[in-house]
Amino acid sequence: MSNSIFRKDGTAQGVAKQRFIESLAKPHKRIIYDPYADKFVLGSSLIKLMGHKLSVWITKQFAPGFHEHLISRTRFIDDLVKNAANKGFEQYVILGAGYDLRAHRLNLPSTLKIFEVDQKEVQNRKRTKLTSNIPNFENIKYVSIDFNNQSLKKELLGAGFDVCKSAIFTLEGVSQYISKEALKSTLEEIEELTKNTNAIFYISYVDIQLKEDPKLCFGKDYPYPKEKVKTVMNLAAKVGEPWISFYSPMEIKEILSKHGFTLIEDKTLVDFNSEYFIPVGRKLSDSELFNLEHSVHAERKQLVTKSKLH
Ligand SMILES: C[S@@+](CC[C@H](N)C(=O)[O-])C[C@H]1O[C@@H](n2cnc3c(N)ncnc32)[C@H](O)[C@@H]1O
Repeated sequence: MSNSIFRKDGTAQGVAKQRFIESLAKPHKRIIYDPYADKFVLGSSLIKLMGHKLSVWITKQFAPGFHEHLISRTRFIDDLVKNAANKGFEQYVILGAGYDLRAHRLNLPSTLKIFEVDQKEVQNRKRTKLTSNIPNFENIKYVSIDFNNQSLKKELLGAGFDVCKSAIFTLEGVSQYISKEALKSTLEEIEELTKNTNAIFYISYVDIQLKEDPKLCFGKDYPYPKEKVKTVMNLAAKVGEPWISFYSPMEIKEILSKHGFTLIEDKTLVDFNSEYFIPVGRKLSDSELFNLEHSVHAERKQLVTKSKLH
C-alpha cells in the first residue's frame, strides 16, 4: 500500500465523497449537509464544478442507489445522535470514524463528550486537515485502535471514558471490514463499559444474502444486480479494504441480545426511500433500490437504577 493514494482510508474517502456530493444539492433537496467533507475528497474542485445532479448521475452509472444508500445511512445516524444528545446522553463514541465530521457539523451540545476511534494512520491524516476554527475542535478525544487486535475498553478508559455516564456508540460502514470475532469482542467491551448506564448502539451490516442470493437485495427492475455487487466489493478490495464479514438479520439480533441490547429498528434503503427521499421529491424507483446494508439501532437500559442517569 505504500505507493497508494489510499493509506487505509480508501473507503473513508469514498464515503466522504458521497457526503460532499450530497452537500452540493439545494438546501430543500438535500438530506444531509457536511460542509467539511471536501477536505477529504480528491478532485473536490472538479466535483463542485460538476454539481450535485451530474455527480449523482455519474455515481449512478457505477451502481444505482449507491449514493443514496450512503447518505441515508448517515442521515439515520445524524438523527439518532441528535435526538439522544438532546435527551441528555453524555458521551458519544464514533467507532471507525474515518472522515465522519458529525462531531463538528451537527451542532451537538458542548457537554457531550466525543471519542473518535479509528486506525492511527487514518486519524493522523484527518487531524492534519482540520483547523482549530472548526466547531467543537477541542471537544474530541482521538483513540487509535485496530479492532482486530486491540482492546476498545482499555483505550477508551485511558482516554477518559466514564463508565457512569450514558453513551452512544456508532459503527457506520465498518462491520464488513472487521472479523466477526472483532465485532463480538467490541460488543463485549461495550457491554462492560456501559453496564451501569444507558447505552445506544448503531451498527450497519451487509446482509449475508448479498453473497448467497444477491438478487434479493435489489428492487425488481435493478439492472445486473450480481455484477453490481461484484463491482462494489471489488472496489473495496482494490483500495486494500476487502469485505470479510456478512450477517443475517437474526444473527445481528442475537449478537446484540447476547450483550444486553434490544434491537429497536433495522432499516434499509427501502425504508429510507419513503422517510427521506420521497418527502424531498427524490423518490427512488425499483431500478435504483440497492439494499446494500442494514441500519440497526439498539438500546440497553441501565441495570442499576441511578437517579443521575437518563
Ligand atoms: C467505510 S469507512 C467508514 C468511515 C466512517 N464511519 C464513515 O461512515 O464515513 C471504514 C472505516 O473503518 C475503519 N476500519 C476498518 N478496519 C478497521 C480496524 N480493523 N480497526 C479500526 N478501524 C478500522 C477504517 O479506517 C475506516 O475509517
